[in-house]
Amino acid sequence: MTESLVEIDQKYVWHPFTQEHTAPPPLPVASALGAKLFLEDGREILDMACSWWVNVHGHSHPKIAAALAKQAATLEHVIFAGFTHEPAARLAESIIKAMPRPLSRVFYSDNGSTAVEVALKMAWQYWRNTGVTNRRLFLAMQGGYHGDTFGAMAVGRTSGYYGPFDELLCEVVHLPFAPTWIGDNACERREAMALARIDDVLERHGHEAAAFLAEPLVQGASGMNMCRPEFLRAVCERMQAHSIPVILDEVMTGFGRTGTMFAMEQAQVVPDLVCLSKGISGGFLPLAATVASQRIYEAFLSDSFYTAFAHGHSFTANPLGCAAGLASLKLFEEEHTLERIARITESNLAWLAEVAKLPGVTRPRALGSIAAVTLGNEPSDYHAEIGAAVKAKCFARGLLIRPMGNVVYLMPPACISPEDLKRAQDGLTEVLRETAHLYAS
Ligand SMILES: Cc1ncc(COP(=O)(O)O)c(C=O)c1O
Repeated sequence: MTESLVEIDQKYVWHPFTQEHTAPPPLPVASALGAKLFLEDGREILDMACSWWVNVHGHSHPKIAAALAKQAATLEHVIFAGFTHEPAARLAESIIKAMPRPLSRVFYSDNGSTAVEVALKMAWQYWRNTGVTNRRLFLAMQGGYHGDTFGAMAVGRTSGYYGPFDELLCEVVHLPFAPTWIGDNACERREAMALARIDDVLERHGHEAAAFLAEPLVQGASGMNMCRPEFLRAVCERMQAHSIPVILDEVMTGFGRTGTMFAMEQAQVVPDLVCLSKGISGGFLPLAATVASQRIYEAFLSDSFYTAFAHGHSFTANPLGCAAGLASLKLFEEEHTLERIARITESNLAWLAEVAKLPGVTRPRALGSIAAVTLGNEPSDYHAEIGAAVKAKCFARGLLIRPMGNVVYLMPPACISPEDLKRAQDGLTEVLRETAHLYAS
């Protein structure tokens, strides 16, 4: 008897972020198109989480698929030290043109965590290359998440995901974040308190800080916590006043997710380093980039290899990923992607105004294609029972929604139709009504 796909998977595969002992068998996906996943058993599921926040325009977009096929038949991969190729050079040019000066150099890698590692290492070596050795500390935002490699875990330590590794992580000082939401009237007070704390930390540690890192405007993995652009700007200005390089982790927020190409535009912050991944390839292939300012780049130039950035990955600047990235950027113009996202925001704001009236539904918030609510008033951990219940009930309605603890969010691809978006919003509203006994007091 031939084994089924699930049987083979269960025998040989180890899945991410999964307790393999108790998790139900994974669901075989046969194909995907636009906002929909098609399961092998014939079910259709609306992808309201953009498949871990990578998808931008929709699944299996024919133009990205065609660009990839063409590239695969021309040049699939080549070592990127000592060589270059058209997709990498052109994608770098497009990214730099979409960003403010003095951001001027693109260093490629292959996932969000490595984009962050690269930024941290660049900031660290920048100081050593310029003869400064006492800047040994990283500053990061409380609740920030930056990936699962060691540097990224250290700066993201307070996101709550890294218990077993705690004693291995390097020293990071975490600064208070000031979240806000629709109808919040204590935001300015919260921000003032956070900024006063930050001033205090900078007074004591500013001279020893190698860099400051933050997710701009939205902290994704710690629960779609949003802040005002003014807050982000005030924090970054303080860092820059202490000559501390600012790293913005736009791995989740980049490529339209917050309604502008990059979230930093809304805060009018010009960082020294930017981390990109996920949407960079339209969600088709693993690709990442760390964008550096001219000042950072120039600090690595000398006649000696010892000041070079001696870091690289086998698949750096993979031509297929870069070709997908170029095709995705073209779609932003051809399909007016940012306008599509603005329509999603508008629809989500109207939906949130209603759903926030349900008992126990708190902190409604929306930005770009993201809409989120918190269930109950207490923070909860990632695996809270309520999240699992909401997820299962949504799935039964054909909706892929992945709550984080008691935070439930929608994040559809830009191509979602108004009807499908409404179906997702209405479905989630129903599920929140059905599960209210779990969170509403
Ligand atoms: C803000 C942010 N940074 C970094 C990462 C890590 O990216 P990856 O999972 O590709 O390593 C993530 C992943 O969710 C993220 O949201």
